[in-house]
Amino acid sequence: MMDTLVSLCKRRGFIFQSSEIYGGLNSCWDYGPLGVELKNNIKRFWWRSMTQLRDDIVGLDAAILMHPAVWVASGHVEQFTDPLVDCRSCGTRVRGDEAAEGKCPRCGSREITAPRQFNLMFKTFMGPVEEEGAIVYLRPETAQGIYVNFLNVLTPSRRKVPFGIAQIGKAFRNEISPGNFIFRTREFEQMEMQFFVRPGTDGEWLERWKAERLAWYAELGLRPERLRLHRHPNKELAHYAKDAYDIEYEFPFGWKELEGIHNRTDYDLSRHGRHAGKDLSYFDGETGERYIPFIIETSAGVDRTLLTCLVDAYREEEVRGEKRVVLRLHPRIAPMKAGVFPLVKRDGLPELARRVEHLLRPRMTVFYDESGSIGRRYRRQDEAGTPFGVTVDSQTLADGTVTVRDRDTMAQERVKIDDLPALLERRLSGS
Ligand code: GAP
Repeated sequence: MMDTLVSLCKRRGFIFQSSEIYGGLNSCWDYGPLGVELKNNIKRFWWRSMTQLRDDIVGLDAAILMHPAVWVASGHVEQFTDPLVDCRSCGTRVRGDEAAEGKCPRCGSREITAPRQFNLMFKTFMGPVEEEGAIVYLRPETAQGIYVNFLNVLTPSRRKVPFGIAQIGKAFRNEISPGNFIFRTREFEQMEMQFFVRPGTDGEWLERWKAERLAWYAELGLRPERLRLHRHPNKELAHYAKDAYDIEYEFPFGWKELEGIHNRTDYDLSRHGRHAGKDLSYFDGETGERYIPFIIETSAGVDRTLLTCLVDAYREEEVRGEKRVVLRLHPRIAPMKAGVFPLVKRDGLPELARRVEHLLRPRMTVFYDESGSIGRRYRRQDEAGTPFGVTVDSQTLADGTVTVRDRDTMAQERVKIDDLPALLERRLSGS
């Protein structure tokens, strides 16, 4: 199924391999015309739910490059490592946990090296001189940009604990074993929210965020039976976490993490306070208490969410003895909302269809297509996940109506052109 999806993504312009004409760059991917629309729709939906519709979360957009001391304080320089082993027989290099029972996963040889700790942060140099003192890191998570800006945001936004800061941005990890298309890559995007709470209320807030985030994926249109929560056993907790859950999705390659929800305690603010020599405590004017807030983090991957939406939406159906491939993406995130088609390329129908296209364009993304049979044009938009097909035919000339075809049911109805924008907008918003 993954191979089929990868080829659909290329064929329809969702996702291409990076630098493909040079043979590609391992684990790096580029988003094409439909991919970038889908990605932006997912990010917009997250941003709207997490900031604009709430009065207790505000936004931030921090730089990717940060002071290198940030990564010492955060524990990443010391602890953001994976064990790396090499197979002496075939030269394969994998994460320690992939060499089950001391065997190479590729050739089965037991001739593997002892694990060495490998730091996953990408390093580069700031300025023209490549020396130790000029090292900076590409951030491996967006979260730290939020912690170091805690006071900067708190004061002007006039927030009181409990409140959160949300951010969407690129993150980089030099993963030993990237793979499964865009599931695990070395450059990816995160949608992270750090919620600052009074110590002692952290357990309760963790429960609330688990429920909120699970509900968000259902609103995104994912099938609920393919989602579950998985609690990290103590020995697997990240270096900053007291308690942690993953929202997992059942991918074709098994149940895997989609989002992490972590109780990070006061670890990050305490460490930054100590390392930077700044007081990052919070004063509660109502109770007179001063404390370092605990943090509940929700951390989702944009690319991984996008992959999940594609996997979840992909269907192969049989229609009148023929295979139909359709992406049943939720209309909210579908890259194109409507396809507009003149039934034939004559009798003034293309001109009329262009008028319908321009009527819709200010309100939604539209794809105009006049080439090939109408059946093929419908199929192309089914594969692209476009919820509605609008066809202009000879009856349009007579009575000003068009047909609207529903992607999922394939049912068609006649609608007056004047009523079309409002009707589609109502359907897209789910009413
Ligand atoms: N700030 C906490 C943090 O970064 P994480 O569990 O390491 O936690 C959070 O990552 C989310 O980021 C993951 O659930 C996943 O969606 C995404 N993610 C992490 N590593 C990734 C990678 N190499 N490729 C794509 N997405 C990744």
